[in-house]
Amino acid sequence: MERSLSMEIVRVTEAAALASARWMGRGEKEEADNAATEAMRTVFDTIPMDGRVVIGEGERDEAPMLYIGEELGSADHPQVDIAVDPVEGTNIVAEGSWNALAVVAIADRGKMLHAPDMYMQKIAVGPEAVGKIDLNASVTDNLKAVAKAKGKDVEDVVAVVLNRPRHQKIIDEIREAGARIKLIPEGDVAGAINTAFDHTGVDILFGEGGAPEGVLAAVGLKCLGGELQGRLVPKNDEQVERCRKMGITDVNKVLTMDDLCGGDDAIFAATGITDGELLKGVQFKGNVATTETLVMRAKSGTVRFIDGKHSLKKKPNLVFTDK
Ligand code: FBP
Repeated sequence: MERSLSMEIVRVTEAAALASARWMGRGEKEEADNAATEAMRTVFDTIPMDGRVVIGEGERDEAPMLYIGEELGSADHPQVDIAVDPVEGTNIVAEGSWNALAVVAIADRGKMLHAPDMYMQKIAVGPEAVGKIDLNASVTDNLKAVAKAKGKDVEDVVAVVLNRPRHQKIIDEIREAGARIKLIPEGDVAGAINTAFDHTGVDILFGEGGAPEGVLAAVGLKCLGGELQGRLVPKNDEQVERCRKMGITDVNKVLTMDDLCGGDDAIFAATGITDGELLKGVQFKGNVATTETLVMRAKSGTVRFIDGKHSLKKKPNLVFTDK
């Protein structure tokens, strides 16, 4: 994979964030998502690569753009697989609350799990606790393992969990173990990635969220030297069949980092749409908009935070293709 792809991808997530941020707080999550998707799509085609969407906005017949299987890019090399989430946290943008991201992950062809659109049980940690967690172990045992790995008491560990009724058992067990909880309304990609950054104050993510988001978060954590384990949760025979079609024969398998994103290289980029613990959201001031982007590459271990300042006078349509 060309290393220059990292920088190209920043323009993609920036464009999506800029476009969707205009919809912040307007109660229109579809519009926010459409704007981001269109902006992302436009920039992708300026990038010299032979890209194929493996995680996208849906199947070909249900998504006009960035559908699974869509080909992106302007060259026949490098051959890469692409996972996109133009707006991770559509409700967050609609409400103007915290931690909405525009996200893209790229891996060498065939290396990223083609996760079907269903739930996935997840557990995720940053680098210090790699190799210490186990999706099959109890919540308490995982909390103890993370506490030990990070040299903390269990009482000092903070678990991040999506605030959903389905997580009540996990929440009760975390409280019983004496650890603390950060309940988030949406956005478990940010929740998982944040476990790798001390200043966000979270140590471990537990719970069930989207499987595509699980793969995106795993690529991010791969770049950061962290770990995510997942298990797909098909709800009916049709979903089991979909897993099979996507090459997942044992649906109960605990998916490791290698299953989620194999190989030694991958790129992850996320631009803040709304403010979060890790990234500032888009701000508009007259003819200028500012963005903050996290971009990382697994092979080199490089982690960059990029502040963007965009002239809206020169690009009033918010799509920055640098042409
Ligand atoms: P969307 O951006 O597609 O709305 O996803 C947001 C999200 O919170 C994800 O981060 C998470 O994985 C999933 O939804 C959880 O699903 P649900 O809202 O059904 O519990």
